[in-house]
Amino acid sequence: MRYTDIDTIGKRYRFKTNLPIIGDKEGLLLTSYQSASEHTAKRILRKLGKVPVLELCCGVGGTTVFLAKYLPHIYAVDINPERIRAAKVNARTFGVEDKITFVVRDALDEGMLVQARKNGVQVVVSDVEWREDLGLSLSETTPDITKTIPSTPILFEKVSRLVTKNLAMHMAANSNKEQLRKLGVCEIEEMSYYGKVKFVNVYYGRLVNKEGISSYAMK
Ligand SMILES: C[S@@+](CC[C@H](N)C(=O)[O-])C[C@H]1O[C@@H](n2cnc3c(N)ncnc32)[C@H](O)[C@@H]1O
Repeated sequence: MRYTDIDTIGKRYRFKTNLPIIGDKEGLLLTSYQSASEHTAKRILRKLGKVPVLELCCGVGGTTVFLAKYLPHIYAVDINPERIRAAKVNARTFGVEDKITFVVRDALDEGMLVQARKNGVQVVVSDVEWREDLGLSLSETTPDITKTIPSTPILFEKVSRLVTKNLAMHMAANSNKEQLRKLGVCEIEEMSYYGKVKFVNVYYGRLVNKEGISSYAMK
């Protein structure tokens, strides 16, 4: 596959670093903001300390490289081998390749989740596909969290049972909040950029500051 870079697709504002982040076009359009990734890493550090992290649906590693800046080890999983290949290049560019183990696997694979637990993982970060059909445009995100790819309630159940109850999920801004609360006590953090909510971070377990809705302004 031919990769492109974040400048070419016009998403440089998501990253404060000048380092090149590469990947397939859609993978780059799906990357999180640096400010949001560092914010998630800092909350994990503050609430749980320097713990190893399992990141599910890591894509081209736009979040992974910033988690690795603050935390000792990241097990980063995506089902798409081309994205993992790009993520490895990005990890090298950021000088964090020694802190990341990349795995091509289904996020719902129970063997992988059990192994993560054995590796000492104490927190899981996820960023599933927010569309119910990958043929839809990126903005057509589903409010129904059972229809994300993979299904959020199934992922939540497996992670809580096999790995940990400490979860940080990056979810679409229009995600159904009732469904998110039904999974467990949570904090839903609205992540805004210049006053517009772009997505939400949903925290469970020991990552919760205060149950309910909070907000964070990304830079
Ligand atoms: C929103 S993107 C993640 C973007 C990533 N957080 C970043 O900053 O680059 C969602 C990712 O989920 C992956 N994915 C979809 N279904 C999956 C599954 N069943 N298991 C693992 N990864 C999956 C896709 O390949 C895609 O890269």
